[in-house]
Amino acid sequence: MSDLYLKIVNTPVGKTAAQSLGLPSPAPLKRLKRVDQPFIEGDVLIGAGNGAKAIATLGSVLGASPANLFHATGPDTLAESSQAGNKAKPFEVGANSEGKFSALVFDATGLKTPQDLRALYDFFHPTIRKLAANGRVLVIGQDPHTCRKAPNAAAQQALEGFVRAVGKEIGKKGSTANLAWIAPNAENQLDSTVRFFLSARSAYVSGQVVRIGKAEEARATNPVAPLTGKVALVTGASRGIGAAIAETLARDGATVIGLDIPPAMEELQKVTGAIKGKALACDITDEKAPKLIADFIEKETGGVDFVVHNAGITRDKTLGNMPEHFWDMTIAVNLTAEELIDEELAERNLMRDNGRIVCISSISGIAGNFGQTNYSCAKSGVIGYVESMAKHLKNGITINAIAPGFIETQMTAAMPFTIREAGRRMNSLSQGGHPLDVAEAIAWYCNPASAGVNGNVVRVCGQSLIGK
Ligand code: NAI
Repeated sequence: MSDLYLKIVNTPVGKTAAQSLGLPSPAPLKRLKRVDQPFIEGDVLIGAGNGAKAIATLGSVLGASPANLFHATGPDTLAESSQAGNKAKPFEVGANSEGKFSALVFDATGLKTPQDLRALYDFFHPTIRKLAANGRVLVIGQDPHTCRKAPNAAAQQALEGFVRAVGKEIGKKGSTANLAWIAPNAENQLDSTVRFFLSARSAYVSGQVVRIGKAEEARATNPVAPLTGKVALVTGASRGIGAAIAETLARDGATVIGLDIPPAMEELQKVTGAIKGKALACDITDEKAPKLIADFIEKETGGVDFVVHNAGITRDKTLGNMPEHFWDMTIAVNLTAEELIDEELAERNLMRDNGRIVCISSISGIAGNFGQTNYSCAKSGVIGYVESMAKHLKNGITINAIAPGFIETQMTAAMPFTIREAGRRMNSLSQGGHPLDVAEAIAWYCNPASAGVNGNVVRVCGQSLIGK
């Protein structure tokens, strides 16, 4: 589904017309062009507040990129920025300079009190206008739940509001701002998350907060195909977001078992055929579905590393007008089936160690949506399921969710024009996302180096104004 307005507004005539009429001027987003593309290029500025714990790790992760690294100098509050390592050259934050930064990265893990928040101002105030279009802001903090003292928790929680507000200010240029909260001593888990949030892979992810916990260090061995040797089950893979997930996981090296309902077999086989995957015809609400899926996996691959519960349906009606089967089907496909499939795979020991379960929620599950009591209820339930399961899973298995916002698919193409236009524009980037944007976030969750990323709900929504 193409966004004609986005194309027109990025022509010289269209840009002038939009500006004079006060209409939004969304910037074209730069997405990944080649798998071997570096995760960041150009000039990158790193800063750190006092007591920073992740600055050396950030310096070494960024040092592996071809970017020109600079560390902030000037105010006393930023003195520890120099610990970014030998590759980073000093940069006086208040200095007059012509160049632009492709990313501004700040280690706020050491901020202990609200007074310490001044370091954020000292770093970002003089540099935010030097952020290039399609630029990246990434802040690393300490998870407030792990702070023992209230002022410390306040300072760390404050980062969330700061980052979300920055995202709203820089979105019109296609730039994003995100926050990673790490648990104490979990700095070594930052690698895949820093790479994701600084790269073109996260083009439509802004205003998000991800929690990273301690885990055994597990690095991807092959940066171009990090999922080599892994097996993924993707439900609802015949079209839309599911097809993009299957293609992206295969691009990154995984063998994909695509699943969809029997009437979608022709479409599904086209998708799986092109990626040398396997196709499984199955209605996930059938009571025999968990056994059928487990039998298939046992026979074809002997186990599975990633389970992506993407299949979903909407059956919209206001609550008073909603027929019983609309309610039952929506809960069954979007919520109950996931739990029953996971249960069967776990019982039969088919989920491999260090596996990844990924569920698809929705901003409707976060904010609620008119005419979608059934869908919002199911997608909210997905969040509860993920947060609870994350505490119980063993053997290095993680579970996370993606909550997509407005994604250009057949589902959103079928919306009435005015509702579709509102959905597209009501976010910081003033445009809809692509199925690939959801798929890239799932590939980040599945990366072997994302072992510490567990129990998160990340929205791929361009920082939608709806919901949290
Ligand atoms: P879609 O309707 O294009 O694809 C859904 C797929 O799931 C279809 O291939 C369908 O045949 C399959 N499916 C449905 N019921 C099934 C069942 N009982 N058993 C097996 N497969 C079944 O939808 P789209 O847009 O690609 O959405 C994918 C996921 O993302 C869904 O969970 C949806 O709720 C969620 N989502 C999508 C958004 C969007 O803007 N497109 C926004 C928020 C969430």
